[in-house]
Amino acid sequence: MEGWHGWDAYAPFYDWENARTVGRRDIPFWRKHVLSSGGPALELGCGTGRVLIPLARTGVRVVGLDRSRQMLGHARRRMRRASGTDSARLVRGDIRSLPFSTQADFRLVMAPYGVLQSLLRDQDLRRTLLSVHHVLRAGGLFVMELVPDVPRWREYDQRVSHLGRRRGGTATISLVESVRQDRSRQLTVFEQAFTERRGRHQRTHRFSLAFRTLSLRQVTGRLRRAGFTIERLEGDYEGGPWTADAQTWLVVARRAR
Ligand SMILES: C[S@@+](CC[C@H](N)C(=O)[O-])C[C@H]1O[C@@H](n2cnc3c(N)ncnc32)[C@H](O)[C@@H]1O
Repeated sequence: MEGWHGWDAYAPFYDWENARTVGRRDIPFWRKHVLSSGGPALELGCGTGRVLIPLARTGVRVVGLDRSRQMLGHARRRMRRASGTDSARLVRGDIRSLPFSTQADFRLVMAPYGVLQSLLRDQDLRRTLLSVHHVLRAGGLFVMELVPDVPRWREYDQRVSHLGRRRGGTATISLVESVRQDRSRQLTVFEQAFTERRGRHQRTHRFSLAFRTLSLRQVTGRLRRAGFTIERLEGDYEGGPWTADAQTWLVVARRAR
């Protein structure tokens, strides 16, 4: 299994589900970093543009990169409908080997919402950090969010997690989910079945998503070895202190000059 598997199938449901979970509460945090960097800024794993589109509205040049054609398709359609997103560009690629020239010169690279946990092996994380180092200007910031609660999910089988309608749509959607912990490989695997019902018609989309548990020590050690210094650790989007059981882990690293 690869961490980028499953996202194409998830794409039509991603915004629906995330409106019920993370919502927009991390956006001011990323906006603050984009504005103080002045750009250009790169978002790793921009998905459907949940974060990228509000950032583009700052007017700062932002690039969103993702491997999933379907997630990028949603981002592209949302950008066409939204106003004030001219400063954003979408690029298809893999975060382990960023498709930018040697001197891409980003002042900021962002890894929101646990995207680094989609890297299922240590060598994938190592390659990604080196690749980020390569495209970041000397002195530039690499800011990442780790989702610390994935290993705390209890295993369960076939639980209905969400039920509702798409905004303005007629179909009802339900999500039935199973969770498995593979502690020997530090992986949490979500098996998802989204069913869309319209009248008597129904269609089920099944896929799995896997996330790796990363300890802070692993990440900071890897960052240092890739040529970054650790500037700050935070435990919420308002700059609260980092603790092991904080709601989120935010790491601010700087590329050494
Ligand atoms: C948790 S979503 C985050 C989307 C968006 N940043 C947000 O916060 O809503 C993770 C995204 O990372 C992408 N992704 C996962 N592994 C990747 C890889 N190796 N290279 C590029 N994109 C990847 C997935 O396709 C997915 O769109």
